[in-house]
Amino acid sequence: MGSEEQTILVTGGAGFIGSHTVVQLLKEGFRVHIIDNLDNSVIEAVERVKELVGPQLSKKLRFHLGDLRNKDDLEKLFSQSRFDAVIHFAGLKAVGESVAYPRRYFDNNLVGTINLYEIMAKYNCKKMVFSSSATVYGQPEKIPCVEDFQLVALNPYGRTKLFLEEIARDIQKAEPDWRIILLRYFNPVGAHESGKIGEDPKGIPNNLMPYIQQVAVGRLPELNVYGHDYPTKDGTAIRDYIHVMDLADGHIAALRKLFMTDNIGCKAYNLGTGQGSSVLEMVAAFEKASGKKIPIKLCPRRPGDATVVYASTEKAEKELGWKAKYGIEEMCRDQWKWASTNPWGYQSKP
Ligand code: NAD
Ligand code: UFG
Repeated sequence: MGSEEQTILVTGGAGFIGSHTVVQLLKEGFRVHIIDNLDNSVIEAVERVKELVGPQLSKKLRFHLGDLRNKDDLEKLFSQSRFDAVIHFAGLKAVGESVAYPRRYFDNNLVGTINLYEIMAKYNCKKMVFSSSATVYGQPEKIPCVEDFQLVALNPYGRTKLFLEEIARDIQKAEPDWRIILLRYFNPVGAHESGKIGEDPKGIPNNLMPYIQQVAVGRLPELNVYGHDYPTKDGTAIRDYIHVMDLADGHIAALRKLFMTDNIGCKAYNLGTGQGSSVLEMVAAFEKASGKKIPIKLCPRRPGDATVVYASTEKAEKELGWKAKYGIEEMCRDQWKWASTNPWGYQSKP
């Protein structure tokens, strides 16, 4: 499919999911501009993306240091280039931090996104792929999670995703020429198979797989397993882990759908595998992939955690023609490749 003339703006493109998606966009022939304030990422990630795609495709990538909360940064960007669509990753994502500093989350995620819609409308760029999250299902009473379930927010981070979904629906309803896809990611893990790019959280990781990874390379002594008395096969909680490259491809599928469908309106799709894995299964899979023992400590449940969450994948399969290809073995294999070759992430050992 020729995407030669299409230019995509990727907000937050230096981050974990953004950087992997940019690789796939370039490989598919799109021109890509990134805007990122490097709040939770480093420019080295963009350099690695260029290395990965090679000098020819790198010419199609431009990086802009900028903040979505700053309207001047957006004005400068949109007045200089024309974008066919925006993939909007930029935002803060740590649940615990959002409880402690809700204003930070409302400012960054809500104000940043509202500014983005304003500038897109001004420059008549009305195609948007937005990073939502399975967090909008809260603690689902039924599984798998289906897109038309009632949505809830359990913390300020989740509230920003829920509000931003509602804002998208309102904007599209009032101005029907918008085409918006909301992608609800389940638990993104893994890394590019080259091991050159991957997740590099600042500080102690909040999420399971980056934590396990840091135990495996010796940066942390053991994994705290939060909850071992859940009514599940081994007592630990179950999630739908999805390879970040599958997720990246899901964005390409969404983008193509937007370009092809005049009257798509504003639609939400789950991006998950439809398979649930327990915490202990993920530990075992990572041990197998890495050959390292991951010492664990059984701890009480983490407040607010759901027991079992996994996606219904039917809608994305049927309407986007997208389905996850990888299982937890490949997720752990590729994450270990990244971890073992970059034990301190993008930095050299501090
Ligand atoms: P990330 O932190 O690695 O990437 C986000 C990027 O956005 C970072 O590079 C950061 O510097 C940038 N950014 C943040 N605020 C900005 C601003 N105001 N202006 C410009 N740039 C800004 O996170 P990620 O894991 O790649 O997540 C991407 C998106 O997906 C986020 O919106 C997140 O909420 C959502 N999401 C992530 C997960 C997950 O587990 N990783 C799950 C569901 C949804
Ligand atoms: N866990 C541990 N030890 C850890 C970290 C996590 O046992 O050190 C457990 C959790 O208790 C949970 C499972 O591993 O049972 C997965 O936890 P994560 O923090 O990796 O992921 P969550 O499902 O809690 O949440 C993540 C993001 C949310 C997002 C959600 C769905 O943090 O923002 O995925 O996309 F909404």
